Amino acid sequence: MSERSEYYSNSENIRPESMERIATREQADRFIDEQVKNLQKQIGNGKVLLALSGGVDSSVVAALLIKAVGKQLTCIHVNHGLMRKGESQMVIDVFSKQLGANLVYVDATDRFLNLLAGVSDPEQKRKIIGGEFIKVFDEEAAKIEGVGFLGQGTIYPDILESKDGIKAHHNVGGLPEEVKLELVEPLKLLFKDEVRVVGSALGLPDEMVNRQPFPGPGLGVRCTGAITRDRLEALRESDAILREEFKNAGLDKKVWQYFTVVPDLKATGVKDGKRAFEWVCIIRAVNTKDAMSATIERVDWELLEKISYRITHEVKGINRCLYDITAKPTGTIEFE
Ligand code: XMP
Repeated sequence: MSERSEYYSNSENIRPESMERIATREQADRFIDEQVKNLQKQIGNGKVLLALSGGVDSSVVAALLIKAVGKQLTCIHVNHGLMRKGESQMVIDVFSKQLGANLVYVDATDRFLNLLAGVSDPEQKRKIIGGEFIKVFDEEAAKIEGVGFLGQGTIYPDILESKDGIKAHHNVGGLPEEVKLELVEPLKLLFKDEVRVVGSALGLPDEMVNRQPFPGPGLGVRCTGAITRDRLEALRESDAILREEFKNAGLDKKVWQYFTVVPDLKATGVKDGKRAFEWVCIIRAVNTKDAMSATIERVDWELLEKISYRITHEVKGINRCLYDITAKPTGTIEFE
């Protein structure tokens, strides 16, 4: 076993200072080869489960596990109804169709939206989404017999932040206490940029590997207040337009995080020569290194006008767009 390989399989959860950073394709390929061997050794003939959200970390873990143990892995993708446009379909296309993974797709939209109906407190919304996610995942997991392992997209910053008590380990999945599964965490000593290099080397699409951060509660925290299906749909469509225009302008490679928010706020306007009392859509685009503080992206006015025109003309129920010029602090990146 090479020195590096020992690093990657260590149980200390400490990244040695001497460990090289994975920045090139060659380094990523070496990491992948070593990890595949480690995973095969750890898992043997066992079965592995993985909650696959389509985020960078879980996607890279899935691709690594598929390479190492193929059909011994079952991925569970829970669509909580708060995904962005096309997101679940992309998970299905990449993992089920292209990589031939065992993928269980659960459309739990109704369950989540029914529970969230009328709930306006942000932390209560987060609790409901997180709790229901674990329930749905557990129900699906219980249908699969003889599972011994649970894959997780833990990365090194998660370990550092858990150690420092900054946040609860958000990647820790939820299986019933009595189900004792051994954790499989092949990315636990990697930083985010390294995970992306490994993901590209594994052949995952650029759109998946280099995507902007997206919160676990998804669009739920951007459809502020009590979520309704029609406002959620307006949010999803406006977000899709913003992402398309940012991509066309090359801003998807430059801006750290960008999205729309559709709060529970209506304004008077004019559409087709008639009074229209419709929602306001807020556009937010920020840059940051560590998400602790952030500055706004100074988006070109012409582009903003184009995005505003498209959203107000193409999205049902929105007649006005605003651009958020608030840095963090005082604003957080998300609205809730
Ligand atoms: P804030 O809004 O706190 O966001 O400035 C900082 C970063 O964290 C993301 N975020 C979340 N991610 N679950 C997550 O997984 C959450 O509940 C959550 N809230 C915020 C946010 O998108 C930004 O990147």
